Amino acid sequence: METISIGLLGLGTVGSGVVKIIENHQDKIMHQVGCPVKVRKILVKNINKERDVELTDILLTGDANDILDDPEIDVVIEVMGGIEETKNILLKALNNKKQVVTANKDLMAVHGAELLQAASHNNCDLFYEASVAGGIPILRGLVDGLASDRIVKLMGIVNGTTNFILTKMSQQQRAYEDVLAEAQELGFAESDPTSDVEGLDAARKMTILATLGFSMNIGLEDVKVQGISNVTDEDILYGKQLGYTMKLIGIAQRNEEKVEVSVQPTFIVDSHPLASVHNEYNAVYVYGEAVGQTMFYGPGAGSLPTATAVVSDLMNVLKNMRLGVNGKGAIAPQFKKKLKEPDE
Ligand code: HSE
Repeated sequence: METISIGLLGLGTVGSGVVKIIENHQDKIMHQVGCPVKVRKILVKNINKERDVELTDILLTGDANDILDDPEIDVVIEVMGGIEETKNILLKALNNKKQVVTANKDLMAVHGAELLQAASHNNCDLFYEASVAGGIPILRGLVDGLASDRIVKLMGIVNGTTNFILTKMSQQQRAYEDVLAEAQELGFAESDPTSDVEGLDAARKMTILATLGFSMNIGLEDVKVQGISNVTDEDILYGKQLGYTMKLIGIAQRNEEKVEVSVQPTFIVDSHPLASVHNEYNAVYVYGEAVGQTMFYGPGAGSLPTATAVVSDLMNVLKNMRLGVNGKGAIAPQFKKKLKEPDE
């Protein structure tokens, strides 16, 4: 059985989790995909940094081309973040016939259609389950589990930082700035918390969810966004007295032929399932014409939860490799938008 070789781009919180899961769950992976899997090379910013993960027989490099140009690397996993430069790196990986898995919501929300088209041209998979709601298998839930239904409405608590802040403001009657500082200390917030608290992170995730849920090409510019930085503890208390909980909610719903998408602080009636999603947890509530109400709940970030989604994507890539159907759309969440073909 030939070993499948992985090139990993990034060795931060999620990258370390990927190395650990591939190592610790190797028996299960082998059993399901039929061959061993090994991380061979990792792109890092600092080769000499101390790491809390076992890296025996893994080459650390500061040059992405060491991975992209290596004919022995079968699959590239991108967990380093970034948009424009990362797009070019992944385009090169796909053009070099590497299968690709990414956890990058910023990249997929902005350049998803173009990258998926490049993947399809090269008969490669590009999977991105970890880009929305970390460990919750929501993308496959939508495009696979609920494939036969017509989605009427999607509602998401898809940003853990703001959910943590609103939960603590509500339960402990604390001020916004005080809880934001705690969320930053705990490492939930993005390096620049503006994208969390002003709703941009949630808007990017809603763009991906709405695109897949409604099979329409929805851009970030189509999403109305309002963050939580102006929410006060008095607002929250007032709602609470009337039986409502304040959440940062992303909503995508059909309105005749259009889909409207927004992210904003919203009072949710306490009996709604989203009202009891607390702290840094995420949830996506899906209302389907046939299925009715469903809700997907779990950790939206974190090393091992997010890495679980990444490695499960990797396993689906490997199953497709065994069947020779990479890039054929099997299992892959595809964006509907068709870009101009290069030779048109
Ligand atoms: N900052 C993000 C959040 C991390 O708080 O949900 C996961 O995308």
